[in-house]
Formats: sequence, structure tokens, C-alpha cells
Amino acid sequence: MPTMTQREITIAPSLLACDFTQIGAETRRVEECGADWLHVDVMDGHFVPNLTFGPPLVAAIQRAATKPLDVHLMITNPLEFAGAYARAGAHVLTFHIEAAGSIEKSREIIRAFRDEGVSKVGVALNPDTPVESIAELLPDVELVLVMSVCPGFGGQSFMGEVLAKTRWLRERGYTGHVEMDGGLNAETLPLCAEAGADVLVAGSAIFGADDMAAAIGKLRTLARQAQATGGNV
Ligand code: DX5
Ligand code: ZN
Repeated sequence: MPTMTQREITIAPSLLACDFTQIGAETRRVEECGADWLHVDVMDGHFVPNLTFGPPLVAAIQRAATKPLDVHLMITNPLEFAGAYARAGAHVLTFHIEAAGSIEKSREIIRAFRDEGVSKVGVALNPDTPVESIAELLPDVELVLVMSVCPGFGGQSFMGEVLAKTRWLRERGYTGHVEMDGGLNAETLPLCAEAGADVLVAGSAIFGADDMAAAIGKLRTLARQAQATGGNV
């Protein structure tokens, strides 16, 4: 039974599902209920057909937060906004490989994020993007985000076929964070942990719960159990 070497589970509630009229209070509430990171979904109306948080709003969340901000950039030009989101307080800053378009451009984006002082750089993959397309970037990123829905909206259904990407990353020996995002709940989140994901994002399953602390606690317990079953430690 792997115990000592088990990867720590990080639960990252997505603020996309919170009550925006109370965003500071919602940030504090989800932290008090056990969030490890705060997942912030940035959408630009181009890369995805929805618009969300600009840098001033992310900076406001950061002022209310004590936990790290995990900023997921679903935007066409991550290079242009690297500085703005880094200054707004992103601890983890993730761009999409589809937005970068090439390995060379991705390297430029990663360098820019680091130059702006970002602690952890991540690369995200849409469900229909093969994981092999980022193989060359693995030594350069602290996190890979495997999307389990098409990005743009909360509340969609989990796409189980993407679990193979998470397994591939661990089988290949990737030791950084593997994050999964989209449609995670008490049924689907354990599948992610079993496949080797250690950062688990959930919006509706956490903000829609009657008892948020119980929901986060349950997801964490299920993830730890599934992680041990999967042996992906
Ligand atoms: C989708 C976002 C997700 C989303 C998750 O584009 O990246 O973070 O908010 O929400 P749920 O958990 O409701 O699928
Ligand atoms: Zn996200």
C-alpha cells in the first residue's frame, strides 16, 4: 500500500461557479471550507466563446485570498497578458498549447511567465489535443492541465477518454503536477486521481453543494483512496 510516497492531493475549487456578487466573501468561504488552491478561469471571448476575469478582478481575488491562485488562461494571446496576470497575483499560470500553436512559441511564453516571476508554469490541453504534442515541453513546466471538458463553461459532463492522457504522463515518468479540470464530482474525480492526477479542479460540485466543507472533504478522501488504488504515486 503506497502511503509515504503518495503525491499530495490539491483541491482547487473553480471560482467560475461562485456567486460573483460576493466574490471576496466566496473566496474566503471556500478557503475556510478546505480549498488548497483557488482556480481562476480566464476567458477572452476569442479562444473560448465566453468572457470572464480580467487582471483587476484577479487582483481583487488575490487581495481576499490567502491560498495560491491557480490561473487558467483560456486566451488567444498569453504572451501579451503574462505580465498583467503575474502582477495580479497568479501563483500558477497556465496557457493552452492550442493558443501557443508551436513548441517554439510555447517556450517563449514559458520564458515570459518566468521573467514575470510566476512560481509555477503550466500548459493545458483541450480534450481533442493529443498529449504527445507537449512531450518536448515536459521538462520545462511544473504542471500539465488535462481538460476533461471543452473549455468555456462550467457544469459540463466529464469526458472519460482524456484519462489516458494523464496515465500517459505518469507512465512516461512526468513528476510535476497533473491537473484535471471539467466535470469533476464524487463519481469522476476518483477516476482522475486513480489515473495519476494530483490537482483536481471542481466548480459546480463544490459551489453547488449544500455543505461545502463536507463536499471538499469528501472529494479529498475519495481522491486519496483512488490514488492509492491506482498506484500512481
Ligand atoms: C471550463 C473551466 C473549468 C470549469 C469547471 O472551461 O476551465 O475550470 O469552471 O467547472 P465544473 O467543475 O462545473 O465543470
Ligand atoms: Zn479551468
